[in-house]
Amino acid sequence: MSFQPEPRILFTRQEIEATVSRLAAEISRDYHDKFPLLLGILKGSFMFMADLIRLLDFPLEVEFIRLSSYGRNTQTSGKVKVEQSLRSPIKGRDVLIIEDIVDTGLTTTFLLDYLQQKKPASLKLCVLTDKPSRRQVPVTIDYLGFTVPDEFLVGYGIDYDEKFRNLPEICFLKDEEQ
Ligand code: IMP
Repeated sequence: MSFQPEPRILFTRQEIEATVSRLAAEISRDYHDKFPLLLGILKGSFMFMADLIRLLDFPLEVEFIRLSSYGRNTQTSGKVKVEQSLRSPIKGRDVLIIEDIVDTGLTTTFLLDYLQQKKPASLKLCVLTDKPSRRQVPVTIDYLGFTVPDEFLVGYGIDYDEKFRNLPEICFLKDEEQ
């Protein structure tokens, strides 16, 4: 018997569009005069970042950072490392992290500590999807898209084993036999 994961839609394109618009309005209100640095966490945030910044009509900069990921597993190892760091300094900048998922909270907590050491003027968190039922460490999310159930998500930039990032909807994986 082979495991053949089947993506099922959790949030449609229209729901994503409405949510990204709401987040863009909240971020515009708070950052329009701050020339912020939007820091995307690779790879899962790239599509969210691309849609979000097209709705932000004020000066900003975009950066990416790459952290270790689950790889082939669907469970976090709890060990996070920086695989590709920042190319521009963030000291004195208003930094807004753009993250795809907060699950256990271990990755985000690590990242917040790592970036705080670089002395930004402010550091906030914008998250597309939050799985609060799986939290191991508390995380304060400043801008939240969707609260999601304990399912493995794919699509809209989010992967399972590098697959499914190209799906335009946010989906969850179900075994075909379920
Ligand atoms: P955490 O450290 O457990 O909070 O996990 C954060 C990271 O794990 C996210 O940025 C994702 O890269 C990955 N992740 C967590 N849940 C999922 C999921 O449902 N699908 C794909 N990746 C996930």
